[in-house]
Amino acid sequence: MNYRHGYHAGNFADLAKHAATLALLRAMREGGPLLVVDTHAGAGAYDLRDAEFARSKEAEAGVQTLMKGDAPDSLKPLADYVRIRNARAGFRDRIGLYPGSPMLALDHLRQQDGWLGCELRADDAEALQALVGRRGQVVRKDGFATAVAQVEDARRLLFLIDPPFERPDDYDRITSTVQAIINARPDAVFLIWLPLKDLETYDSWLRQMEREVLDASEAQMLTAEVRLRPLSNPMKMNGCVLACLNAPQGFETQLAAIVADVAAALGEDGASGRLREL
Ligand SMILES: C[S@@+](CC[C@H](N)C(=O)[O-])C[C@H]1O[C@@H](n2cnc3c(N)ncnc32)[C@H](O)[C@@H]1O
Repeated sequence: MNYRHGYHAGNFADLAKHAATLALLRAMREGGPLLVVDTHAGAGAYDLRDAEFARSKEAEAGVQTLMKGDAPDSLKPLADYVRIRNARAGFRDRIGLYPGSPMLALDHLRQQDGWLGCELRADDAEALQALVGRRGQVVRKDGFATAVAQVEDARRLLFLIDPPFERPDDYDRITSTVQAIINARPDAVFLIWLPLKDLETYDSWLRQMEREVLDASEAQMLTAEVRLRPLSNPMKMNGCVLACLNAPQGFETQLAAIVADVAAALGEDGASGRLREL
């Protein structure tokens, strides 16, 4: 596995994903006990001073740019959280730490909630375990299979699915994992992250989801796209998609604002954010 999330931590895609994750966590904290399953958890948090990771300049174009000005309303909760987390880590006048999805979730869950994170890389799993401690459970196991194994849990379920897309079968595995979970737990909530390079790959995943999950269940799916630029070069990551199944009430409006604001704040000419309901 070559992928290391450190190179991408705090980029536009992380900001959109984590702003949406935070909005979902806040909405879902209203109900009974919750289990959050992070199928591809990464290292948990990232040191933005790391010279090797900083070479990608992705955090510079992402979180560092966002935090220089006033964040738009939809990104303000995430920006405020990043600022507080940095102050707690001793960074008072700059952003030296970027919280990944595990730190973000653990900081927003209640006593009665649970957290399970999967990470296959030994180095990132070790860093994650050190961060999580006894607040949750870290496993060095395949996130897709581990997610399906949680369907018997009596708590409400939120699955964060964020693969590296190094393997061509990541799209198929997302679909089959969601299908298996929805069959057993029709009420489970999912937030899925996908890269947006060209529309063909994305469309074929949407068709697969419609056929195998949406047409065969009561589940509804929102898809929110951030397009940083027109999709003219399929070799580049031109944007990203957040797909949410069984979204809580009111989340649709928040998600639409998040993708529009990330595109406006960090995109090039022709950038856009758009939301669809399937
Ligand atoms: C995009 S990163 C995760 C970032 C994290 N979700 C966040 O938002 O902070 C994907 C991670 O999944 C790990 N990974 C790849 N395949 C996996 C699998 N089948 N199961 C669990 N983890 C996997 C990679 O090593 C990588 O750290």
